[in-house]
Amino acid sequence: MPRVGEPEHVTETRAAYDTVAASYEQLVRSLLTESPMDRALLGVFAEEVLAGGGGPVGDLGCGPGRLTAHLAGLGLDAFGVDLSPGMVEVARARHPQLRFAVGTLEALDLPDGGLAGALAWYSVIHTPPERQRAVFAELARVLGSGAPLLLAFQAGVDDPVHHRQGYGHEISLHGWRLDPGRVERQLADAGLAVRARVLREPDGSVHEKSRQSYLLAVRR
Ligand SMILES: C[S@@+](CC[C@H](N)C(=O)[O-])C[C@H]1O[C@@H](n2cnc3c(N)ncnc32)[C@H](O)[C@@H]1O
Repeated sequence: MPRVGEPEHVTETRAAYDTVAASYEQLVRSLLTESPMDRALLGVFAEEVLAGGGGPVGDLGCGPGRLTAHLAGLGLDAFGVDLSPGMVEVARARHPQLRFAVGTLEALDLPDGGLAGALAWYSVIHTPPERQRAVFAELARVLGSGAPLLLAFQAGVDDPVHHRQGYGHEISLHGWRLDPGRVERQLADAGLAVRARVLREPDGSVHEKSRQSYLLAVRR
């Protein structure tokens, strides 16, 4: 259901992920065990958080919570936030020991500077590029000084993709392959200095057609 004053892309994204939540969870459940590079990047992120003294870490756009659980397993005080109540329900059922809440990247229900780290793993990809400045400003607002942010997204030239099928369901979902340079500049404008950038080639599977970009930034 659209909420009053809500942008169309938010309504569409919520509806799509509510529809696919259970099937999505099954499909991605074991992905991390097959992705040493993803585990390595998440490990670096976790070490950065712990080196800074630790504290709450938001998995923002957490979906079924697989990465929230992975970060908790690395010793972080991780919790998840997602736009889709269906995803949050799946996450809570799968990881009852962890905290999950419904919320949006555009307006997080979190205090200024309260996070020791934030992960946005393929969750900014459904926000139109022209609206991403506001999301990066919101991420900067909730991060404490020196706290790391790890972003993952499909790389491109800010080109759109319209998914009409997903995880065995008919849906309508827009996404964007983001321009890593533009993202990096906008992160810097928001007060998030990029410390590392990784551009990975497609893995050759049917699911992955584009390069994957990972940016590790630090709140100034
Ligand atoms: C591709 S899934 C990734 C989920 C999870 N990070 C993972 O890797 O398993 C994208 C997730 O981001 C969430 N999402 C998309 N836009 C969002 C927004 N503006 N605010 C909060 N969550 C959002 C979706 O509901 C969905 O669960």
